[in-house]
Amino acid sequence: MVEDIVSKFKELYRTEPVVVRSPGRVNLIGEHTDYNEGFVLPAAINKEIYFAIAPNGTQTMRAYAYDLEENAEFDLNNVQRSEIGWANYLLGVVAQLQKANYEVKGFDLVFGGNIPIGAGLSSSAAVECGLAYALNYLYAYGIERFDMVKMAQKAEHEYALVMCGIMDQFASMFGKRNHVVKLDCRSLEYQYYPFNIDDYRIVLCDTQVKHSLASSEYNTRRKECETGVALLQKLYPQVNSLRDVTVQMLESHKDEFDPVVYKRCMYVVQENLRVEDACLDLERGDLEAFGQRMFASHQGLQHDYEVSCPELDFLADRAKESDAVLGSRMMGGGFGGCTINLVRLDKLDEFTRQMTEAYQKEYNITLKTYVAEIVDGSSLVPIDFSKK
Ligand code: GLA
Repeated sequence: MVEDIVSKFKELYRTEPVVVRSPGRVNLIGEHTDYNEGFVLPAAINKEIYFAIAPNGTQTMRAYAYDLEENAEFDLNNVQRSEIGWANYLLGVVAQLQKANYEVKGFDLVFGGNIPIGAGLSSSAAVECGLAYALNYLYAYGIERFDMVKMAQKAEHEYALVMCGIMDQFASMFGKRNHVVKLDCRSLEYQYYPFNIDDYRIVLCDTQVKHSLASSEYNTRRKECETGVALLQKLYPQVNSLRDVTVQMLESHKDEFDPVVYKRCMYVVQENLRVEDACLDLERGDLEAFGQRMFASHQGLQHDYEVSCPELDFLADRAKESDAVLGSRMMGGGFGGCTINLVRLDKLDEFTRQMTEAYQKEYNITLKTYVAEIVDGSSLVPIDFSKK
């Protein structure tokens, strides 16, 4: 893959590039908690985007999207949103750098990879983080990783128009091989937990349902949470976000809530507790208990937060019935994308076969499954040009 991208770069631009990789992510538990200042537990995975990049001595960005076989050019003196969807993830990052007074000189770029688009594995965050990382390296800005994460998130807000939380960009930049990372989305403190699951695998089952509802419903959920916080703030002035809310606070004022807002808030408060408990499970090496919390998370997402869909529920239910599986739940924003499953290695083939057959029978769709390995966050890729 990386070789293809480098040779395309050389063919197009006749020079040798710097190469950067930036991964997609999974999230073990802690969904829709990031924008509520809660906890998440993601990891970067071996579905990645590669960037071959070099300065071109002009004020133009020339970009080639390898997977789409499309190219486009943009004047860096006048950066604005584009009609070209994929270009916005790049332009959004350039715009953030310029806003922060970094001089972005012209560059040539070929990028592409193997993160399936629209499967909820954060291909967009990988593109944003990868370009931020690459330009930071190329022009020696000296920007800290966390600041690049925030710029990448802002790029998503302002150029992709999705009001995402910080999890995806954080995971892409801060991933660590064979570890999951618990992020406190309020303090931005984080802690790595070894995720040495020799006898298990992380398996993603891709519904192939494109989450078209996702961005409008995502923004609605954010508003519902804000409504709940506004109500609680009147009763408890110390409440600034759902992070500051307890189950008991909610229960004792249930009647004052709109029932939908109540369900949403209760889910978030409970999901935060699940993340904390799941980390204790990891410390104890109790993956069975960890898996149970994944099932519980799915229940909450399905019934209380209502961001699942029939296909995701079907896959999570089938997985729950299988003795190959420790835990399963929908992952990411919802309304499509993947379920994440913790599967016994000795039953991996059996699991894949059973799920594929069941999905085929129910929906007449050939299920796509991916075994995810946990890798490091965005980094340089050493290329030995002398070999070519
Ligand atoms: C999307 C967003 C994240 C997060 C998840 C839900 O992936 O980009 O910030 O909110 O949904 O947990």
